[in-house]
Amino acid sequence: MKELVKKFTEGFGPSGFEDSIREIIRKEVEPFVDEVRVDALGNLICFKKGNGGKKVLLDAHMDEIGVIITHIDENGFLRFGSIGGVNPIIALGQRVYFENGVCGVIGSERIEDPKDLKLEKFFIDIGAKSREQAAEKVKVGDAGAFLQTAIDLGDRMIAKAMDDRIGCVVIVEVLRQLKETKHDIYAVFATQEEVGLRGARVAAYGVEPDVGIAFDVTGTGDTPKARTMDVSIGKGAAIKVKDSSLICHPGLREYLVKLAEENGIPYQLEVLESGGTNAGAIQMTKAGIPAGVISIPSRYIHTPGEMVDLDDVKACIDLCVAACQSPLDF
Ligand code: CO
Ligand code: ZN
Repeated sequence: MKELVKKFTEGFGPSGFEDSIREIIRKEVEPFVDEVRVDALGNLICFKKGNGGKKVLLDAHMDEIGVIITHIDENGFLRFGSIGGVNPIIALGQRVYFENGVCGVIGSERIEDPKDLKLEKFFIDIGAKSREQAAEKVKVGDAGAFLQTAIDLGDRMIAKAMDDRIGCVVIVEVLRQLKETKHDIYAVFATQEEVGLRGARVAAYGVEPDVGIAFDVTGTGDTPKARTMDVSIGKGAAIKVKDSSLICHPGLREYLVKLAEENGIPYQLEVLESGGTNAGAIQMTKAGIPAGVISIPSRYIHTPGEMVDLDDVKACIDLCVAACQSPLDF
């Protein structure tokens, strides 16, 4: 599994630019499903046939936060905007890379007041000596991702884009383990979550499932002077109660809790006070779809050093497998 985490997190895929990561995921998932298709928004929708059960949508978003070039100046410096929630304090000094392999570093104009730390004061330096030289390598509208390799700490790993490639890993592992299933499983590797849950919205509309479960990272309260939050890494799968995007279907939530208890799977209840995920869009599709979330606790979300505990990842996989093999009659 560690290899898959490394492969997925190091893949390139800012929101709207998911072609490369989609092919990486497709290759891993294809052997375990019956059909694979890509819809108009670029969602990778994988179907595993059941036998008279329900239509179950499993969702993880494959896009990541990033940057997008807005202007190349006469000296070859690239001005840029954000794709998704990029914190300027964290962005400064980071390396970025583009889909064609071009790399650069984020520098800043002279700043006297920390309040002026804003993306509009920053630029990407790709080592070009002129606008012309820069334009040979990149153009306005090109997207960049933060450049960091995954680190294996033993039980835990650090990587960029754990949000939400770790959710993608969970779903691939679930499909690998699910030999037979009564339910029809639609595994959706969704695009454009970081810019407003856009891929999942149309994927859910197209699939029209009986139940939707999203897999995404959630914050924790387990670091020095963190905002109070009752989730820690290493304490199990986080069964979401509420975040900014949805209040999870209470029946499904309690059903997942019961499954975790019956199967001895470590879990914790999650209330995330700021942040949302695809289940918010899935729930509001058509006439409404019962939706829930199994979250992977993660430290330092939306930094290039997001940390997860692999025991939590395993707990999320086990809980999802148990759910897919259960009647889901909540
Ligand atoms: Co995110
Ligand atoms: Zn996410």
